[in-house]
Amino acid sequence: MSRFLRQTLRDVKGYVPGEQPERADIIKLNTNENPYPPSPKAREALAAVDPETLRRYPNPTARSFREAAAEVHGVGPDNIIATNGGDELLRLVFATFADAGDRIVSTDPTYSLYPVLASLEGLRFEALALDDHYGLDPQAFLRFACGAEPGSVPAKVALIVSPHAPSGKLFTAAQLTGIAEGFPGLLVVDEAYVDFVDPALGHSLLACVQSLPNVLLLRSLSKGYGLAGLRFGYGIGHPDLIAEMTGLTKDSYNTDVIAQALAEAALRDQHYAADTWQRVRSERDRMHAELTALGCAVYPSQTNFLLAELPPLADGSSRAAAAYAALKQAGILVRYFDTPRLAHALRITLGTPAQNTAVIAKLTPLLR
Ligand SMILES: Cc1ncc(COP(=O)(O)O)c(C=O)c1O
Repeated sequence: MSRFLRQTLRDVKGYVPGEQPERADIIKLNTNENPYPPSPKAREALAAVDPETLRRYPNPTARSFREAAAEVHGVGPDNIIATNGGDELLRLVFATFADAGDRIVSTDPTYSLYPVLASLEGLRFEALALDDHYGLDPQAFLRFACGAEPGSVPAKVALIVSPHAPSGKLFTAAQLTGIAEGFPGLLVVDEAYVDFVDPALGHSLLACVQSLPNVLLLRSLSKGYGLAGLRFGYGIGHPDLIAEMTGLTKDSYNTDVIAQALAEAALRDQHYAADTWQRVRSERDRMHAELTALGCAVYPSQTNFLLAELPPLADGSSRAAAAYAALKQAGILVRYFDTPRLAHALRITLGTPAQNTAVIAKLTPLLR
């Protein structure tokens, strides 16, 4: 440790990103990327980038992308902030809406970046355990967020991932709206995976954003639009929230010329994106059935991944840990979380049909 490191960072454990192998022949189902390439329109936008435009700074607020996002979602451009991945939005939320020492709450489990970002800002992060089926009791969460326990204080910011990672569970608009209405702080609903929700459910929080000034939605182009390498996300919320992050805490030019052009082209091509979401959903149903038939307990998912609990080995140790290693040996990467709650589970990103078939083929002998 250098003697220059900030005092407040000495005990902080950094976020550990999922493995990013160099080899191209790996079946990579560990970080929830889209198995399909981005829209051909994004490829055209890339080919059309004139190097001359790189001489100048980009539009500081990605105006043209924000107009596209506003059209797609039926909100105003002043409801949108463009960010360098959804992750940057999270950083901006903490930097803009919480003072050092403030309480931040989420669920347990949740996106493991939240506590890391919170500690960078000197915030106090606390999480309320979801039930055994990853269900959320909105009243209990509200009491927790409002600091109803003796000795507690109301949280400044509450973050809920919905659909939830790593379980895939979707919390309903009624549950989330109920929390937002009763909570005096800011509610961030992290919708990094919302594109994969079955449209038949008619799920949307966009109306909630229009009526409640304390709700901010996180969106990402990494999963739904096959653009994880581009680093592009956005927030949707009340114009005051957007203006405060835009004007006070974001970098002057937080998204670059190329990223803005590709993100806009991909977002405008809803037809292409929706087709990839439908393919992922259809594989989600198949994999859910096949993993269940192999004896796994699979949680119902509205995302592009499945959380499957594997029965323990005869000596009680984790079959999931062994399966993770065996899959890796066979060139298939999935995610294993070495935490007490998830020790028997694998989180498997849905790949192409052929990739998913390879997962089942490799898991079958390990489960019989
Ligand atoms: C729950 C959740 N939120 C936000 C993000 C951020 O996504 P990105 O920064 O790639 O847009 C991720 C990425 O894995 C995620 O899993």
